[in-house]
Amino acid sequence: MEGSRMRRRLRVIVAIPAIAIAGVAAAAHLPPALQQAVSRGAHIFNDDSFGSRVKPVADAATAFAALGGAPHAGPRFMTCSACHIHGGLTRGRLPDGHRIASLRNAAAIFPRYNVKSHRIMTLEAQIRHCVRDGIAGRAPAYGSSAMVDLVSYLRSIAAGQRIAIGGPAH
Ligand code: HEC
Repeated sequence: MEGSRMRRRLRVIVAIPAIAIAGVAAAAHLPPALQQAVSRGAHIFNDDSFGSRVKPVADAATAFAALGGAPHAGPRFMTCSACHIHGGLTRGRLPDGHRIASLRNAAAIFPRYNVKSHRIMTLEAQIRHCVRDGIAGRAPAYGSSAMVDLVSYLRSIAAGQRIAIGGPAH
C-alpha cells in the first residue's frame, strides 16, 4: 500500500476508539444533577407510557420478547423503547417489523426539515410528535422536567457524534 494512504487509514483506525473513549469520559464527568437527569431520561424512555393505554400489540408480553425488549410480567403499554429498542442505541423496530434508524446521532442531527409538514423540527418537537403519534399519550410540554430529562438522555447517547443539522440518522 502507498505510504500516505496507509497513514491516512491508520489515522482513521486510531480516531474511532478515541472518539468512543471521549464520549464515555465526557459522560463520566457529568455534574451529579445532570447525571441524574440523564438517568431519569433513560427511565422515562424505557418505562413511561405518558398515560397511554395502547399496547404494542394485543399480546404485549409476547410482543416485547419478540421486539427484544426487557421481559415484563404484567401488561405493558406503549413506550419509547417499544419502537426504539435497546434504549435507542441500536436500529429500532416498529410493531409491524419495519426497521428504523437508531437514535445514536438523533441529538446531533436536529433541527431537521420535515417535508410532509413543511416545518423545521427540533429534537423537542420530534419527541412530542413521537409521544402523540407513536405512543398515543400526552406529550410532555416544552421545558417540562420530563422533556428536559428525555433531551438529556438523547444528548448523552449522542456523545462524540458529529454535529450535522438536517443530516441523516444512522
Ligand atoms: C410506535 C413507534 C414509536 C414510538 C413508540 C416512538 N417513536 Fe420515535 N420514531 C418513530 C419513527 C417511525 C421515527 C422516524 C424514524 C425514521 O423515519 O427513520 C421516529 C423518530 C424519532 C426521533 C428522530 C430520529 C430520527 O431518526 O428521525 C427521535 C429523537 C425519537 N423518535 C424519539 C422518541 C422518543 C423520545 C420516544 C418516546 C417518548 C419515541 N420516539 C417513541 C417511532 C416511534
